Amino acid sequence: MDINKKITDIIRDKSTQLPTLPVIIENILKITGDDKTSSEDLAAFISKDQAMVNKILKIANSAYYGLSRKVGSLSHAITIIGFNEVTNLTIGLNVFSIFQKLGVRGILNMKDLWLHSIGCALIGKKIAKKTGKGNVEQCFLSGLLHDMGKVILAVYFSEEYSTVLRDANESQAPLHLKEIEKLGLDHAMIAGMLMEQWNFPDSIAIPCRFHHNSSACPPSYRTQAIEIEIANNLCHRAEIGRSGNSVIGNINKIQGKLGFTSKKLDIFLSNLIEEYTIAEEFFTLIS
Ligand SMILES: [Fe+2]
Ligand SMILES: [Fe+2]
Repeated sequence: MDINKKITDIIRDKSTQLPTLPVIIENILKITGDDKTSSEDLAAFISKDQAMVNKILKIANSAYYGLSRKVGSLSHAITIIGFNEVTNLTIGLNVFSIFQKLGVRGILNMKDLWLHSIGCALIGKKIAKKTGKGNVEQCFLSGLLHDMGKVILAVYFSEEYSTVLRDANESQAPLHLKEIEKLGLDHAMIAGMLMEQWNFPDSIAIPCRFHHNSSACPPSYRTQAIEIEIANNLCHRAEIGRSGNSVIGNINKIQGKLGFTSKKLDIFLSNLIEEYTIAEEFFTLIS
């Protein structure tokens, strides 16, 4: 059986050891986009998991939100930091802990990968805010989860993936292209497949699926895919974490679609001073 088929089977076949999403997240995903859901409904779901409540409160009180008033309860957090923010944080934190538990056996440095992911989330959000395009909170969550296909490869195909990582490094090839060459699909496609399997909304799954090929993304989600592709590039350039890539991709063809010239992007990059510290703090809070 070729490896492409094996990877697809692991993700599609519910009988494998691939973790399932906790019920809390299944419930939250069901209510995502439902205008009738109230803050009380959301608080009721999350309150069933006290560890999650504690993490959300820690983040709400961290430098990331920079609030002057202390947030003391989940309902307060929802009021102060917002319904969508709490929803996305809860989803992101749960997925983070699922992958933390999987174990990667030294092929990828998980701390570096999460710092990179948090960095992309922070930068993606900043790009969406600056351009006024795309959904700011969805950009944050897509940025946080965009590279989770790498964890699947590192956990379930550790031997093959270590060869891919080594080959990409030795030949100085973009990692996702080396994955396609050696495995028949890349980590972005795997992330997209996994999110589809987990019933994530298309607004998160599709931009992640196309984060290395945003020009090919369906039009409704293309802006967000471009934002993640640019955030990914800037995160590498700002050296926030690492994600197994030896070369930084070229975004000359896509940056203009959001109105960025190379000069404007350089200025934007030079203003990403706080992101490294916030990413480190965020990582400490959720680990
Ligand atoms: Fe990636
Ligand atoms: Fe990335």
